[in-house]
Order: sequence, then C-alpha cells, then structure tokens
Amino acid sequence: METPLDNREQITPMPRIGDKAPEFWAKTTQGDIHFPNDYKGKWVILFSHPADFTPVCTSEFMTFAKLEEKFAKVNCKLVGLSVDGLYSHIAWLRTIKDKIQFRDMKNIEVKFPLIEDITMNVAKKYGMIQPGESETQAVRAVFYIDPKATVRAIIYYPLSLGRNFEEIYRALIAMQIADEFAVATPADWEPGDDVIVPPAGSCGIAEERMKIKDNEMECTDWFFCTQKLDKNEVLEAVLQD
Ligand code: BEZ
Repeated sequence: METPLDNREQITPMPRIGDKAPEFWAKTTQGDIHFPNDYKGKWVILFSHPADFTPVCTSEFMTFAKLEEKFAKVNCKLVGLSVDGLYSHIAWLRTIKDKIQFRDMKNIEVKFPLIEDITMNVAKKYGMIQPGESETQAVRAVFYIDPKATVRAIIYYPLSLGRNFEEIYRALIAMQIADEFAVATPADWEPGDDVIVPPAGSCGIAEERMKIKDNEMECTDWFFCTQKLDKNEVLEAVLQD
C-alpha cells in the first residue's frame, strides 16, 4: 500500500548535488530562455519564491536586484521563478519599481529574468513544490549551478523565512575558490581566512604533512591542515575583468 510519504516523494523529485541541472524552456520577464544551455560558462543561481505581491518575496527581490551587479562581477547570473503568470510578474516588478521602499532601497528595477511557471513544470522538476509546506506555492529554493551545468549546492527555506544574501554570496565565492585552488573552506569562512587543505590520501603524505612547518601549510594533526589564502588572491581569482 502507498503511504503518504511515498506519494510526496513522487510529487517532489529533486535534483541532487552533482547532478546535471534539469533542462527546460520557459517564458520569463526578459524573454524566452533555454535552461541551462543559455548559461554555459557561467554560474547561475536559480531561485524560487512563493508568490508575487507578497512582502517577504518583495524584500528578497529588491535585495537580489540590488546585488545583481555584484553577482555578475563573479560570473554569476540570477534567475527567479514562481508559479505565477507572466503578467502578474510584470505588474509586480513594476509596482516594486514605482512604489516600494525597503531599507535603503527604492526605485529598484529587477533586470534579471523571472520565470512564469503556472503549470509548475519547472518547480516540480527542481523539487520546489514541497507539499508539506505548500501544495500551491514554491518554497524558497536556491540552486547553485556551475559553468558546466552541474548542481553544486541547494538551499531550501520555508515560506516565512527571508533568505540571507550575504550567505548566498559567500557560498558562491567559497565554491569558486574550492574549484580554483583545490581546497575546502572551514566553518564561517570569509575571503582572507585560512582555507583547509583536503586530507592526505596516504599514510606517507600524512607523515610528510606533519613535518611541514612553513607559511604554506599548517597541520595541527595529520587530517587537519590549513593554508593561508590572501584576500587579494581570492578576489583576483573570482572577479571578472
Ligand atoms: C511572503 O513572501 O511574504 C510570504 C509568501 C508566502 C507565505 C508567507 C509569506
């Protein structure tokens, strides 16, 4: 017999970290897109929000719009989605620009594409409809998709919780740095902090590591080695010309 949980899992299949980003064609406020093909060679943050004309979503859209340029500078495009129609999206974005003031932001123009998804085709493909939270609205999902169209990180928030954009940006930079320098980043890492050298893959390397006492790498045990990575080097690696 099918349990309610089995049923839920069938409704919300979701891509996992390391999977290729599921493909789709969609109408957006910036024209039609073919995802992820249109974004080859770039990082993309594909994010969903529950509904147009709602306050938390409005505050998030204004914040993303304000930060769009900052993300572009590190080779990252933004793409939004909700299960509303195109005309609702257009009306909402116009209202945001014309009327809404939030913190230091006003006259904010959202220039990145916002996908219309009334059929929930895309939202279901990406596991953005999570019936335990809502059957009719997408949860707040954040998918990081890398330049080779691989899903690299996924963050989900419930409907009531506005996202932390500093963390969304920090995670992007940390993944770019992990790729560039073959390192990992420790808890609460910020550019300029020491990075983690991945654990030694053999006993010989583990022994060697314990002997190294220079500025390059510092090991407090064979499995716990850190390395300095200057903030300027980080910025040079991530910032586009
Ligand atoms: C909001 O964006 O304000 C919101 C949307 C859905 C449920 C709760 C809040």
